[in-house]
Amino acid sequence: GFAIITLNRPDKLNALNHQLFSELDKAITIIELDADIRALLLTGEGKAFAAGADIKELNACDELSGKHFSEFGSNVMTRLESMKIPVIAAVNGFALGGGCELAMSCHIRYASQSAKFGQPEVNLGILPGYGGTQRLTRLVGQAKAMELNLTGDLINADEAKNIGLVNEVYEDTVLIEKSLALIDKILSKSPISIGAIVESVRISTKLSLKDGLEYESKKFGEVGGSQDFKE
Ligand code: COA
Repeated sequence: GFAIITLNRPDKLNALNHQLFSELDKAITIIELDADIRALLLTGEGKAFAAGADIKELNACDELSGKHFSEFGSNVMTRLESMKIPVIAAVNGFALGGGCELAMSCHIRYASQSAKFGQPEVNLGILPGYGGTQRLTRLVGQAKAMELNLTGDLINADEAKNIGLVNEVYEDTVLIEKSLALIDKILSKSPISIGAIVESVRISTKLSLKDGLEYESKKFGEVGGSQDFKE
């Protein structure tokens, strides 16, 4: 009932290059087309979740290609965030730059004790290009997002939990087990209810409270009228 995507470029700390983004994009499509998959777990192979955009590819940027570089990765992350099933990140190590941004485009984040988070782009003379100034601000507030983005400092998993960047922190050895237990719990509920909750919570950042409440009532009617609810 669920899928696992593992970022698998451990010798480069799962740095996000064009090929990795393309494969991730393809994997999202495969999962979207499979109605039996009702939750997604995203994690990384090795000691990193992802250590950011691939710095070698970044080197070749000019103004136009830089914009495209940012849009390409950003679009894949927005596709992930827009999935109709719950998307859980099991952050198993470094989640830096694009890695932190990728984790933030998931709906729930569990982190291992050894995970490290940060937006170090400022140290390279650039800025985050996949949502680090946008999703981080929504998640942790403007002051903390400014501080992390302006200093490039890394924070550990407990600090990430304190500021609301991750939901829970677990010992490295049980991170996947705990993430799968969460998925198990979600899969035990009505899929129609889960789908409506994912969409309603996700859309709340885009709507006024009035419009969001209207959207929720509409969804409530749809789900309440379903055979699943009657059962
Ligand atoms: N892009 C491309 N390659 C990367 C990378 C990235 N963002 N992050 C790590 N790598 C590569 C390294 O070049 C190295 O490759 P090599 O063995 O061919 O030289 C390999 O991954 C291992 O990295 P290394 O730096 O040796 O590991 P470490 O444990 O000493 O340090 C980090 C880990 C995460 C602190 C360090 O790799 C780092 O600072 N990475 C860049 C983080 C960053 O600035 N991300 C934002 C990019 S916009």
